[in-house]
Amino acid sequence: EFQPRVFSGVQPTGNLHLGNYLGAIARFVPLQDEMPAIYCVVDLHAITVKHDPALLAGTTREVTAAYLAAGIDPKKAIIFNQSQVREHAELAWIFNCIARIGWLSRMTQFKEKAGKNRENASVGLFAYPTLMAADILAYRATHVPVGDDQKQHLELTRDIAQKFNNDFADQIKELGLGIPNPTPSPELPDELFFPLTEPMIAGPATRIMSLRDGTKKMSKSDPSDLSRINLRDSAEEIAKKIRKAKTDPEPLPSEMDGLAERPEAANLVGIYAALSGKSKDAVLSEFAGQPFSVFKPALADLAVDKLAPMTGEMNRLLADPGHIDAVLRDGAGRASEIAGPVLRDARRIMGF
Ligand code: ADP
Ligand code: NA
Repeated sequence: EFQPRVFSGVQPTGNLHLGNYLGAIARFVPLQDEMPAIYCVVDLHAITVKHDPALLAGTTREVTAAYLAAGIDPKKAIIFNQSQVREHAELAWIFNCIARIGWLSRMTQFKEKAGKNRENASVGLFAYPTLMAADILAYRATHVPVGDDQKQHLELTRDIAQKFNNDFADQIKELGLGIPNPTPSPELPDELFFPLTEPMIAGPATRIMSLRDGTKKMSKSDPSDLSRINLRDSAEEIAKKIRKAKTDPEPLPSEMDGLAERPEAANLVGIYAALSGKSKDAVLSEFAGQPFSVFKPALADLAVDKLAPMTGEMNRLLADPGHIDAVLRDGAGRASEIAGPVLRDARRIMGF
């Protein structure tokens, strides 16, 4: 059987925001007590678009500080920086030779990020999902907590694992490197080298939307700073952004059905639910019939209450970059101890 293991990552592209926290980082914390957990700062992904080399070390430390401040314990979980463990890039190349151009051409994130000038996008941006598959499968990770925007990339990760397991089934068996398939199916051999990873996309915050436009996801790259709550915003900035968040003039309904055509209102209720740990229905029964002039200040108080201690801890940690770098170095060593043998076996399967 594949040992349960969780892997996830966040790009060091600056402007870490509430969506990154609620959709991903906050969910990493309890998982470290359930199974071995590996949390990566994925800097090789951050260079698929134009980046400033002078800022990369700082943004890498910022994501690390967010992990630590959120409550990830570097003694339990492995926290490290992707570029420090060479197995990621090596396995990504193998996967570039497994994945099909047609598969990658269907990725909606590439289409969005490349925009109109697709011919001018980097090959790395196109191949991003094969590197993501390598990130996960270098550890034979079985569970990947992410936001909703990563769903398609995780399906591709399963497709790559499946094709690798099929294409090299004979070598895997001959070398004795297979693990019995826990869920036998006609599409797969009875022994696998890579697991078919389970996406964990759940809870009230899988897709936090922009505070300025309820049809766009909250994003690091949105030019409007009012569109997102950054994890390093002050209490005043958080309150101001919630006060200025786009809404409609109707009071809150008593049930989620009443928010079907009101994306901005639904988003704020979802944020309240995620921050308070209550269900969206429970939030609505508390605020049913109330206008936003009542709901927004309550949400701002809650957000400041939950985020201010973390912001303070991030700032304290960032004042000591040497400590953060030591955490990353230790984590890279421990990550290599897992990924090294997986790559050694993958190379034998490939015939290297
Ligand atoms: P971004 O999409 O902000 O550039 P990343 O690609 O580094 O950030 O994503 C880090 C994690 O944050 C991923 O698991 C992603 O799904 C999650 N995430 C990003 N934006 C949101 C959002 N608006 N709502 C919920 N989760 C999000
Ligand atoms: Na993303």
